[in-house]
Amino acid sequence: MPMYSNRAKLMDDDCSLLLWYKSRVQLNQYDENQNPQGICNLGVAENHLCEEELIAKMRSVSSWSGQFNYYPDPSGEFPFRQRLCAFFNETFCSKQTTLDPARMLISSGVSGTIALLSVLIADAGDVFLIASPYYTAFDFDVAAMARNSLIKCPLLNQDIGEFSLSVEIFKQGYENAVAQNLRPRAIVLVNPHNPLGDIYDEVVMQPILEFAAEKRLHVIVDEIYALSVFQNQRPFKSILNYTSLPDPERTHFLWSFSKDFALSGTRVGVLYAGTKDICRVGAKLNFLMVPSSAIQMTLKLILDDCEWTNAYLKLNQCRLTEQYQYAKTQIEQMDKRIRIRDAQAGLFLWIDFRSILTKVTFEEEHKLFDEFFNHGIYITNGLAIGCSEPGWFRMIFTVKNKWIQEGIERMKQALNTYKLSSS
Ligand SMILES: Cc1ncc(COP(=O)(O)O)c(C=O)c1O
Repeated sequence: MPMYSNRAKLMDDDCSLLLWYKSRVQLNQYDENQNPQGICNLGVAENHLCEEELIAKMRSVSSWSGQFNYYPDPSGEFPFRQRLCAFFNETFCSKQTTLDPARMLISSGVSGTIALLSVLIADAGDVFLIASPYYTAFDFDVAAMARNSLIKCPLLNQDIGEFSLSVEIFKQGYENAVAQNLRPRAIVLVNPHNPLGDIYDEVVMQPILEFAAEKRLHVIVDEIYALSVFQNQRPFKSILNYTSLPDPERTHFLWSFSKDFALSGTRVGVLYAGTKDICRVGAKLNFLMVPSSAIQMTLKLILDDCEWTNAYLKLNQCRLTEQYQYAKTQIEQMDKRIRIRDAQAGLFLWIDFRSILTKVTFEEEHKLFDEFFNHGIYITNGLAIGCSEPGWFRMIFTVKNKWIQEGIERMKQALNTYKLSSS
């Protein structure tokens, strides 16, 4: 008799490479004081750039209330949802929209939220279309409870050799799914994009929303990097601020405190759903994963201090811009053949090592990945995040100074070893 269920076995198999490496690296992570020989983790999208300011602020607002002893509201605390609606209105909405807390659910990060949403909008076996490369931990999220899977729609346009979002890739993905007797249920859009750092404007998004409406597909818009936009970029326009949506009831917004507030440890994600009813039903399951009232109300206090929040978001954007430029320049100077695609937002560099590889194959990409890992640096290879072309890597740059310097130094050494071994 096996120890655990078939369901647990499936869940174990679903675990993406991304999550596997994350747990492995976290056991021996570089720290300039505590563990200088540890692995330089430049693979997990966390932001350490404003850590000191955040710790000070979190400490200054944290205090215990009797209310925290008891069960939270399974939809998320009402005052917190009200505060978030006001925050999104102020931050994202230029027109006079009033967001409704009854259409909002607070869950366990965007990961928990998309897992929950999958249960709510799709049946087991249904598929979602996603532009690739993408954040592949989603494979696990949509499978874990709901048993859904993702169909990759490659962003790489072979004719022009560029990664570009268009409705055509989803039309193709839709046809591929149907040809395999699969039922597409939703399109997942990540804007700003991980790993490209592109921002998609309304002109690009509208045809996709229209195609989804025509096929009665839900649209899940993950805007987890909405406020992590570099300075001097065109302003980001949230789906919450679109003047018209072709199918508003099937259009759902996701966000969390993990990236823009650099608080991935709080596990607080937000769903703003197309209808109140999705939230009403969702709250039943959400009781299993709603974050504690203590953390929700602490985050409410942060948002209540608008002056601090605005200053923090500005500071974060300034540091993101500086560190992005620094890391990009350092790596491009290592070898003139390395190309880094320009990004407008996010915590990552999308690096093209194709001309360094002896052969442009996924096997060779993996050799380079192993060389980096053996030199104590973890960055994500393109294959692990569903890239259709070998030779691309995603590197997180939002770590402390010593950490990024050490990572870049190790990368240089790894590249030298790789070149010597393949010459
Ligand atoms: C696009 C995207 N969505 C969701 C997540 C997961 O976010 P959370 O920490 O809120 O679960 C990540 C994390 O890297 C991400 O990049």
